[in-house]
Amino acid sequence: MPQSNRQKRLGQFWTPPVIAEFMLELVGFNPLWKVIDPACGEGIFLLKALERGCKFAVGIDIDPEAIERAKTLLKDHLGKVQFYCQDGLLPINDENAFWRSDYDLVVGNPPFAATGYRVRDREILSKFELAKVKVGEETINLSGQGSLFEVSLERKRQKPSQAIEVLFLERFVNLCKQGGKVCIILPEGIFANTSLRHVREWLIKNFTIHAVIGLPRDTFKAVGTTAKTAILYLEKRPPQENHEVFLAEVSRVNVNGNASLDSDANPQLVAVLEAMKLREQTIAKRQNLAGG
Ligand SMILES: C[S@@+](CC[C@H](N)C(=O)[O-])C[C@H]1O[C@@H](n2cnc3c(N)ncnc32)[C@H](O)[C@@H]1O
Repeated sequence: MPQSNRQKRLGQFWTPPVIAEFMLELVGFNPLWKVIDPACGEGIFLLKALERGCKFAVGIDIDPEAIERAKTLLKDHLGKVQFYCQDGLLPINDENAFWRSDYDLVVGNPPFAATGYRVRDREILSKFELAKVKVGEETINLSGQGSLFEVSLERKRQKPSQAIEVLFLERFVNLCKQGGKVCIILPEGIFANTSLRHVREWLIKNFTIHAVIGLPRDTFKAVGTTAKTAILYLEKRPPQENHEVFLAEVSRVNVNGNASLDSDANPQLVAVLEAMKLREQTIAKRQNLAGG
């Protein structure tokens, strides 16, 4: 499907339903969860969550047309979903009840900078940790209770621009409650580019990364891009020592219209889910043993 300039400018590449389904399965979706997609487009993630019994979902998109399309797609669930047409990178504040850091699951596929979509608004950049780069370190001597402490502080500078997906990654985490889950599709460069090392360090230092799953280039081919992407699944809690991240590379997916998440249509996706389940069981067993 050829993309209009506007669609390209806004990074509008809809996620195939089977991938949205896969991501909900990956995080062990619970219908009691409060869910948000801060760049929801047509709303496929919200639809999949509502079809699984979700009772409270929120969709944000900057494009009024996308919101209208989402309302049509979700017409059978409108009592349980709220849509807001706004910039998903606006500061989180208490003015709007929906715009809070209290979601159990923040899920989606934000716009990518590959289409030239970098954020240059200084006001917005100033609110994001990941829009800053370290320029040095200084040590400060503090004294208290008769002892001398040395504290080292990082000096940081705000970048003049940042790739939009990096800011959205931070926004996804901001909207998530402590102990909640984030599942997001990102360009693979986030996991490899030297210039994005500070993003990986921020992730590893602060959160429990459960999985990174590479997707093949033809995942989004039908909607107009062959970008190499990966799914990142994390929990908003500090990592434990010796935490292991599950890594997988999916080389084939069947994303045709009605392709389902079963071993005939999508054996590799199903194998990844089974391997993840096994991993969770092994970790739970290990924790039980350690606990007594
Ligand atoms: C890659 S599409 C994904 C849409 C949907 N989450 C999905 O997976 O099908 C990215 C969406 O982000 C929206 N978008 C672009 N810039 C945005 C912004 N600053 N705030 C909120 N939404 C934005 C676009 O309109 C588009 O619908």
